[in-house]
Amino acid sequence: MKTVVITGSARGLGLEMAIQFKMKEYNVVLSDILEDKLKEAKDLLEKEYPSRGRVISLVCDVTKESDLQRLVDETVKEFKGVDIWINNAGVNQPMLPIWKLEADSINRLLDIDLKSTIIGSKIAISQMIKQGYGQIYGVEGYGSNDATMLGLSIYGTGKRATTYFYKALANEVKESKLPICVGVLSPGIMITDFLTHSLGTDSFALPEKTKKVYNILGDYPDVIASFLVDKIVQNKKNDVKFNWLTNRKATIRFMTSSFNKRDFFN
Ligand SMILES: NC(=O)c1ccc[n+]([C@@H]2O[C@H](COP(=O)([O-])OP(=O)(O)OC[C@H]3O[C@@H](n4cnc5c(N)ncnc54)[C@H](O)[C@@H]3O)[C@@H](O)[C@H]2O)c1
Repeated sequence: MKTVVITGSARGLGLEMAIQFKMKEYNVVLSDILEDKLKEAKDLLEKEYPSRGRVISLVCDVTKESDLQRLVDETVKEFKGVDIWINNAGVNQPMLPIWKLEADSINRLLDIDLKSTIIGSKIAISQMIKQGYGQIYGVEGYGSNDATMLGLSIYGTGKRATTYFYKALANEVKESKLPICVGVLSPGIMITDFLTHSLGTDSFALPEKTKKVYNILGDYPDVIASFLVDKIVQNKKNDVKFNWLTNRKATIRFMTSSFNKRDFFN
């Protein structure tokens, strides 16, 4: 039986991907900083999604290298190896221009959204080199394609760099002829707590204009997780990108938006 580790999997996309893997009989390692939500997530997987796969959960702050190392060590102790590792944990930024952000917020954002994905990959790949197999994925987001918008500049900086990082890691894996696959997941816009909370906790109101766009392009994370997990379990290639909101899909959504009665925010 294969094993997947997902950071930030107490809610949102991480939890929905965990459900999909559990239904496909994977052993699932849930991890997050939110201890209570993590317990709820483990109960949910065990009670509502019975399968041969087992679930363990670990409190892990991805900004702490020792927590990430413990996540690998406990997974290996319990399940012998790590087949798939997903650096999913991430936070949104306060909707402010760069000069109005506190330096502490900028540091915290980049620690979670960028540095943790680098350190997480380094720790996971070291284990995968030892065991001789494995797949590692990062999650793209706004800015990955160079887009800019007031209020998303630091988040976008992190995601743009994340995209570069996985490209570079995939290249190093290829040049070193390692039996490991590296890739990115591009989930588009998901209706999760992320959209209305900065730094994971502070809630803010979305402007009406933004809500309109999210109603057209957004989807609930279970739909996107199902698409992404199907791609991941079939993947045998290095340097891949699994993209939910393609340009074609976005164009069709805009063209048909006058028939679109979705309202995620009321
Ligand atoms: N929601 C969107 O529209 C959207 C779009 C593109 C990309 N993404 C990316 O998708 C990923 C998941 O986002 P989501 O929408 O499910 O958000 P979410 O807020 O629902 O879930 C994120 C999870 O990460 C956890 N987390 C935050 N800081 C952490 C830390 N230091 N250590 C461990 N866990 C931590 C949170 O507790 C939460 O459970 C993120 O990387 C995000 O940047 C989201």
